[in-house]
Amino acid sequence: MHMDRSERNYVLFTAALMIVFALALAIGGVANGIKLPAPELIVDPRTVATPGVSPFGDPVEERVREIAPGKYEAYILAEAWKFSPGSTGQGQPPLTFPVGSTVTFYVTSKDIQHGFKLENTNLSFMVLPGQVSKLTATFDKPGTYNFVCYEFCGSAHHIMYGELVVEDTNAASR
Ligand code: CUA
Repeated sequence: MHMDRSERNYVLFTAALMIVFALALAIGGVANGIKLPAPELIVDPRTVATPGVSPFGDPVEERVREIAPGKYEAYILAEAWKFSPGSTGQGQPPLTFPVGSTVTFYVTSKDIQHGFKLENTNLSFMVLPGQVSKLTATFDKPGTYNFVCYEFCGSAHHIMYGELVVEDTNAASR
């Protein structure tokens, strides 16, 4: 079959691009240790934040729990345009953990699709209404980590962010 030279070049170029993309995915996923969130639970976004229905309905101060020494669970509710807890700019408490903590994040949305990206970690996932995303991370370095919504979610998307503080506690006995 005859193939024009420029056409053949385009086919070869496209094939090479696909290989580059596949390699980039493999390097990003394997070398950088990207973890995909597990769809932990299916919930009803209309009632998930109702008190008594789920941990997302609990008072915001009680949505971070120490379940064992140094192990925490954090239930974060996303909505346009804040994370509760976490969005200190919107009157929400920050997330605070002692250094060395292992934190399992449970995040869901009560309205539309949002994103959750925690800087300086490999935590990054979509937050979907109706589904609870779960990821675990250990924080060995003290400091303030910001997290942002990275899915465009409306006119105030750019102010949808939160703060996680890892405290340097010398008193921690571990
Ligand atoms: Cu929520 Cu962008």
